[in-house]
Formats: sequence, C-alpha cells, structure tokens
Amino acid sequence: MYEEEDWASVPADSVSLGPHEDPGDRDVETTLRPRKLSEFVGQARVREQLELVLHGALRRGDQPDHVLFSGPPGLGKTSLSMIIAQELGSAIRVTSGPALEKPGDLAAMLSNLTEGDVLFIDEIHRIARPAEEMLYLAMEDFRVDIVVGKGPGATSIPLELAPFTLVGATTRSGALTGPLRDRFGFTAHMEFYTPDELDQVVRRSAGILGVDLRDDGAAEIAARSRGTPRIANRLLRRVRDYAEVRAEGAVTREVARAALQVYDVDEMGLDRLDRAVLRALIKSFHGGPVGISTLAVAVGEEPSTVEEVCEPYLVRAGFLARTPRGRVATAAAWYHLGMTPPANTPGDGPPTLFEQ
Ligand SMILES: Nc1ncnc2c1ncn2[C@@H]1O[C@H](COP(=O)(O)OP(=O)(O)OP(=O)(O)O)[C@@H](O)[C@H]1O
Ligand SMILES: [Mg+2]
Repeated sequence: MYEEEDWASVPADSVSLGPHEDPGDRDVETTLRPRKLSEFVGQARVREQLELVLHGALRRGDQPDHVLFSGPPGLGKTSLSMIIAQELGSAIRVTSGPALEKPGDLAAMLSNLTEGDVLFIDEIHRIARPAEEMLYLAMEDFRVDIVVGKGPGATSIPLELAPFTLVGATTRSGALTGPLRDRFGFTAHMEFYTPDELDQVVRRSAGILGVDLRDDGAAEIAARSRGTPRIANRLLRRVRDYAEVRAEGAVTREVARAALQVYDVDEMGLDRLDRAVLRALIKSFHGGPVGISTLAVAVGEEPSTVEEVCEPYLVRAGFLARTPRGRVATAAAWYHLGMTPPANTPGDGPPTLFEQ
C-alpha cells in the first residue's frame, strides 16, 4: 500500500533512480561493470548459449555470428557486449543507432574495422534506413557498396571489409525490421533478475565500493531493485549515503528501508513513475483497458518511456496486463494502491514478488 500526493504536483526528481542510464554516474557504472562472463551474475541461459556460440567459433577459427541483445534498460546488454569482445580477445568499437544517420557514417565505421573486431551498435532500432540497408550487406558478405556521385552518373564501388562480429543492443526488438533481425545468428532476450541474483549483484558492488553491507541490508535492496542490476547498484549508493550521514555507516535492513523511503522507492521496488502509471490507470481509467499513448499523456511522459521503461516491469511483477484492447490494471495493482478491485478485475490477491 502506498499513499502519495498527486503525480503532477511532485517536483522533478533531482536524483534518478530509474532504470535509464544516467550520465551522472557513468564512472561508477564503469567500475561496477562485470568484465568476464564468470563475473556476470544471472541470465544463466543467455550466458550458456553465448559461451557456446563464442567458444564454438573460436575453436573452429571462425568469426562468431552476429549477436543481438534485447530487453529493458539496465539488465546488462552493454556489459555482455563488452564481455564478448573480452572473451574473444578482440577490440571493440562502439557506436549507436542515432549516431548512424547517414550511410557514410556507417561506411567510415565499417571500413576502419580490423579482422576479428567487435562492432557494438547500441539502440540499434534507431538506425536510419539507408544506413540499415548498408548494414545488411556488411553483415552478410563483409562488403559495402559506396555510391559515388549523384543522378545518372552515379556509380557504386564495392569495398571489402574485414570480417567482424556485430553486436546490437535494443530496448525495443519489436521496432527492428525483419531483414535486420534475420541477419543476427544469435538473439538473446534479457530477463529481469530474481531477488537472489540481485543480492549477488549488490554484494559484489559493495565489495568493490567498500560498503559495509549486511546480509539483511543486501536482501532489502535486492528486493526493491525492480529486477534490474543498474537500479540495485544505484540504490546501494543512495543507501550508503544515508548510512554514512544518518546512521553508523553499516547498511542493515532498517537503514535500507529508511533510506529507500526517502527516495520514494516502495517495498515492491516501484518508483514514482511506476506508481503514477498505476494510479492513472486505476483512478482516471477505472483500471483500463486504455492505450499506451493515452496513459502516457495522463502521467506527462513519452509513450516510449512508459512502454520501454515502466511497462515491462509492471507486467513482470503482475501489476499490469496487456490485452488486445489496451493496458489493464490487475487486482494486485489495486491492492498495492490501497484500493479494492472491482469484481471482474484480472489477477488475484495482493502482490508478491515474483518467484525465484
Ligand atoms: N549480470 C550483471 N552482473 C553484475 N552487474 C550487472 C549485471 N548486469 C548489469 N550490471 C550492472 O548494471 C549496470 C548497467 O548494465 P548495462 O549498462 O550493461 O545495461 P544495459 O542493458 O546496456 O542498459 P541500457 O539499455 O540502458 O543501455 C552495469 O554497469 C553493471 O554495473
Ligand atoms: Mg546499454
């Protein structure tokens, strides 16, 4: 149960505790990023499959297939991409979909690759169409056609590329075109982490950062991290601040609870925006169904933020259901906001954290 003032009257958050990447703490993220497959917690299936793909290719002396990671922000897509290069002993070149506006940008990037390199394209669903088409040929044949000149006199010059492995990451695999998706030999969907796995993540981070994290404190942070390692690390740092300023420095369960209350993270790990979405759904639309863009307008956010950042976790934790007619609040969502659901509401009982 959670009571709070109207979403609209809440001042903008000064500290970001959501799953999005935040330039403010990029340095810490780099420090905490797992470097090797063996340091990477959770995602057991993806790890096993990836290990086979990489080591199979290494054994044969081939270039590994192109790899696509999809899933909500902060689940380790970038980290795993770096690890791929590390496991292969290759150099990694990093770019992103929005940076590849013109085919020339991509051609420059591709022609600079040396044999065996890993090319990482973050937010690959945002790549511009002409660059995407160039990428098809590059992925398939390690070749690009450079068009010189304009109009009838234009000619295309084929350019051989060094064999490379493309690693793409996206928070919206649905926005990828079919031809692009088909050119990846291995696609991995990242899942939310269990509280147990997040417990390991925060313990590891506490070790690196020198935080005196107690067992019950770790469990509390893990349970409130929305299934997301980036959030777990962020909460750990906020709780550490609290422990140093207002307590004796040790992060116990009580300290973690008190700190997370200050930062508006509730016992299910929902942050203000998550709760605002549920409140709008229930209070303004009587629990739904309602379309994602209407819901986004109601909370004053971009539809893509609601869809890519809030929704996956709300669905995973059983608060929200997707139906052909729109989004619906489950019974658990009504209980979470301290209200009794109407008789025909989907889902049952008060909320529980998902199974381990
Ligand atoms: N499996 C993991 N084990 C330990 N730490 C992890 C793991 N996955 C992610 N992290 C931590 O979470 C942070 C964010 O991970 P990462 O940047 O890889 O997420 P992402 O999926 O690329 O997010 P985005 O979609 O926003 O780009 C990392 O810096 C790392 O500290
Ligand atoms: Mg990333």
